[in-house]
Amino acid sequence: VAAPLSDSNYRFLREFLHARIGHDLGEGKEYLALSRLGTLVESRGLPSLSALFDLLSRPGDTALETAVAEAMVTGETTFFRTPAAFESLRRDVIPNLMRARAETRRLRIWSAGCSTGQEPYSIAFILAEHMSELSHWDVSILATDLSEHALRQARAGAYTDADTRRGLPPAMLDRHFHRRDDRWVVSPEIRKLVTFETRNLVDLMAFRSEFDVVMLKNVLIYFFADKKRAVLEGVRRAIKDDGYLFLGESETILGISSQFCFPPTGLEYYRPSAQGLADD
Ligand SMILES: C[S@@+](CC[C@H](N)C(=O)[O-])C[C@H]1O[C@@H](n2cnc3c(N)ncnc32)[C@H](O)[C@@H]1O
Repeated sequence: VAAPLSDSNYRFLREFLHARIGHDLGEGKEYLALSRLGTLVESRGLPSLSALFDLLSRPGDTALETAVAEAMVTGETTFFRTPAAFESLRRDVIPNLMRARAETRRLRIWSAGCSTGQEPYSIAFILAEHMSELSHWDVSILATDLSEHALRQARAGAYTDADTRRGLPPAMLDRHFHRRDDRWVVSPEIRKLVTFETRNLVDLMAFRSEFDVVMLKNVLIYFFADKKRAVLEGVRRAIKDDGYLFLGESETILGISSQFCFPPTGLEYYRPSAQGLADD
């Protein structure tokens, strides 16, 4: 396990991550690969890192491929990460959509790359503020990630004290959580708004004009440009023509996709552009 990673294995890993999950591991991240894959080597009882690469280079072991991909992704997240984006969801987007969808009474939100669930639950806490008006609506949040490990925690909806201190207003902790052993557990009313599914964004997306809002925050930062473009094309097809797209605060689609309009200063979201509509 402690043996260094050979150049050819590192090159193999970079190509594997590009093809399989779109990620650009970059140069000089051998230390990261060593520590993350070292843990996997131990947990699988393999004799060495090169044994792991031997197995990985034989196609067909999808469970191992998934485990390697999972080991290499970063699941860092908090409740209400980028508060301005959630404020804009609360103040502009949800009220606009409640007017625009008054006939169909249907709202669909997608949290893509939801990690351990803080993001979709934060969206659900905001929807809950409108629940008296939305009580006869069909409202749901689809939350997806490639990491089964992250999704297990997300589905359980159980968080440590430290997790809840990161971004969650105390009033929301009181309102939407109960204590079980040493965890804070999200209430059933909130959990029933969210469905969790395993999905790799690099795989073809079958969604067509499904979603009113897509949150794709802090996921594409790790991606190669070609895969980023492909994912944004899939997201454009998945989002309604008058929908809303949120990206992470340090992310841009400039030079990558013209299918969404750049947000005017002060707004946190992208809208599908006229060209995006023409392309459909
Ligand atoms: C840094 S976290 C961001 C979580 C949350 N969106 C936020 O902004 O706090 C990135 C998440 O994207 C997921 N992810 C990365 N590449 C992915 C892919 N190709 N398909 C699906 N999920 C992916 C990772 O598993 C991880 O949970």
